[in-house]
Amino acid sequence: MKQIFVTRFGGPEVLELREVAVPEPGPGEVRVKVAAAGINYADIMQRDGLYPNGPQPPFGAGFEVAGVIDAVDPNVVGWKVGDAVMAFCQNGYSEYVTAPAAMLLPKPAELSFEQASAIPCQYLTAYHALLTLGRLKAGQTVLVHAAAGGLGSIMVQIAHNVGATVIGTCSSVEKCALIRDLGCDFPINYAVEEFGARVREITAGKGCDLIIESVGGDILERSLRCLKPRGMLVTLGVASKNVPSVSSVELLANNWTVAGFHLMGYTADMEAMGHALADLKDWLAAGKLTVIVRHTFPLEQAAEAHRQISDRKTVGKVVLTTG
Ligand SMILES: NC(=O)c1ccc[n+]([C@@H]2O[C@H](COP(=O)([O-])OP(=O)(O)OC[C@H]3O[C@@H](n4cnc5c(N)ncnc54)[C@H](OP(=O)(O)O)[C@@H]3O)[C@@H](O)[C@H]2O)c1
Repeated sequence: MKQIFVTRFGGPEVLELREVAVPEPGPGEVRVKVAAAGINYADIMQRDGLYPNGPQPPFGAGFEVAGVIDAVDPNVVGWKVGDAVMAFCQNGYSEYVTAPAAMLLPKPAELSFEQASAIPCQYLTAYHALLTLGRLKAGQTVLVHAAAGGLGSIMVQIAHNVGATVIGTCSSVEKCALIRDLGCDFPINYAVEEFGARVREITAGKGCDLIIESVGGDILERSLRCLKPRGMLVTLGVASKNVPSVSSVELLANNWTVAGFHLMGYTADMEAMGHALADLKDWLAAGKLTVIVRHTFPLEQAAEAHRQISDRKTVGKVVLTTG
């Protein structure tokens, strides 16, 4: 089968397509014939060697897929050959993956395989960062950075669904139009206007209750100026690859909370996961949530997909397909 490997740390050119044996499911595992492998910004950070405690090359890229179970270890209960699933896994950029049964979710009928590949990482991150950690409520105001991206475009919809006022930043007129359609009340094209001044104008100087920050660098510091006293900024990514630091004095002076978020700290929280999956089901059934997929690439073009994400040319979920 075909699989994409990170051969050494570096740019997109270090991704290499290799022929390897189809994996056999181990105890408690299933094998999934991959229809769509989700690409996440974390894949780029891992490829660059910038991911905290990330794998050492050579390693198989990717950790989020959707497909159909085609083999099941006899010890597995509740899943059978032919089930359509979404999964957290290793070696996701592949034609087949194995995954522990506990890492599977049933694919919702409302979503294509390409759309479903966004659910394990991006939907659950959006949900838990906004609601489980951020406790966003109706009537509050949230600022979402990279709002037209894979994660951001889902965050905008969730925040809108719970009745929050949503402010989103992105880098083009087209991206602003997309997030407006998804329920963003105030899209900000940061390429033409300073987002901090605009947020203070929108909130009449009061600031936001919650900010989701995924860019790092000076964006984090400038975002803090958009936070209400006692507001929370959730930091969950460093797309600029520039790690910021925060002044503790400024935090205490303003009663600000700066909270780190990493999805893997939430996947074993059964109560929170139950809420996330129940709301997903309701929102899909009501037509109140969708996954934008405008960029699909065959597995062979993984490097080009990475390039386009890093060059900010993509919106919504970016997917590798296996044909
Ligand atoms: N902690 C977690 O558990 C977790 C889970 C999922 C994702 N994340 C983080 O969430 C962020 C979004 O992830 P994603 O996979 O959905 O990616 P994405 O948002 O689809 O792509 C990244 C976006 O970031 C924006 N950006 C701003 N500055 C950038 C820069 N210097 N270089 C490249 N892009 C820049 C771009 O949007 P504009 O052109 O509109 O600025 C770009 O489209 C990433 O930082 C990722 O690491 C964290």
